Amino acid sequence: MSRFPSSQSTSAMVEEPTKVVSAGGGDREGEDEQVVNPWEVTAKDGGKIDYDKLIEKFGCQRLDESFVRRVERLTGRPAHVFLRRGVFFAHRDFNEILDVYERGEKFFLYTGRGPSSEALHLGHLDAFKVPLVIQLTDDEKCMWKNLTVEESKRLACENVKDIIACGFDITRTFIFSDFSYVVGIFGFTNEDHIGKISFPPVQAVPSFPSSFPHLFSGKDNLRCLIPCAIDQDPYFRMTRDVAPRIGYQKPALIESSFFPALQGETGKMSASDPNSAIYVTDSSKDIKNKVNRYAFSGGQDSIENHRKYGANLEVDIPVKYLGFFLEDDAELDHIKKEYGAGRMLTGEIKKRLVEVLSELVERHRKARALVTDEVVDAFMAVRPLPLMFS
Ligand code: TRP
Repeated sequence: MSRFPSSQSTSAMVEEPTKVVSAGGGDREGEDEQVVNPWEVTAKDGGKIDYDKLIEKFGCQRLDESFVRRVERLTGRPAHVFLRRGVFFAHRDFNEILDVYERGEKFFLYTGRGPSSEALHLGHLDAFKVPLVIQLTDDEKCMWKNLTVEESKRLACENVKDIIACGFDITRTFIFSDFSYVVGIFGFTNEDHIGKISFPPVQAVPSFPSSFPHLFSGKDNLRCLIPCAIDQDPYFRMTRDVAPRIGYQKPALIESSFFPALQGETGKMSASDPNSAIYVTDSSKDIKNKVNRYAFSGGQDSIENHRKYGANLEVDIPVKYLGFFLEDDAELDHIKKEYGAGRMLTGEIKKRLVEVLSELVERHRKARALVTDEVVDAFMAVRPLPLMFS
């Protein structure tokens, strides 16, 4: 398997002392090592991803409680559940972004989505009232997932609707796809296969304000914060390595763990198994079925044993999912306590999860139905955003 870029050729110039993909973070050579990079995520021996090891190998920092408290102090509101519950567990220079915010200066957010399939869930970092650019890497999926240009563009458009339905503010949000915005700028046509080598810079450049003259002209020093999953770190390690050498600010990152499959964290996550995930297109009936039949439970094998020993919360998927989607901290604590002590049964936990997910999916379905092609075009129009910092 190929590496990107070759660790030999970069390490001499790298001022962050990390290789881009190799070294346990890792590449394919040590087969018993876990592999985490933008194209492959495989745990060691089919076990769990070791996130502590990723922090060490990638050389990022732990995003601990003190950051969550500081975000809450600065914004005057509870932090997003993904921050509060440790879904975002690592960062690079997030403290600098919070300093910028504390001084009353501006920054912008950049995130993205590779439209390879159905929809997603983005945690909104809306509290900061800052502009947001969202990249749809339809070219990436076209090259790696062997989709046609037309199919990648179609999926990108479908994904944009799900993103918009999550509640982004059109006065502060610019959404672009590589085929329409980036490839267009370079004058390539749909027929050009510009190759995988050319992709990493494509994901890197939106980190720099000068990539968006219609938004940030004259603001070349505006800092950028990138929320992403930890597998994207190699792209941005490269970006941060290059930035100072071309006179730009390094982007800061907050990095999340992966969303576990319904079958549990130790099994193999298979994108092609429709029963391993809940989709925003699932009906309440589908959700009920999937949760009841497939969600890996940490409950004991008999009621007597369960009452006696309680559930193993470490491996229990329904509790883990409730941690992502149940906003109410008190209710989550109550569930963990009672279920962990065996006073609540797996059936009750699954029932609550089905309710929470059905509600969320129903809310999303309604919101998405309002997102017409015209709304998509409006978000993706290359335009100034005069209200983006207000
Ligand atoms: N490569 C990402 C994916 O496959 C999409 C992406 C593009 C992205 N730019 C990003 C993700 C910035 C996080 C942050 O999903």
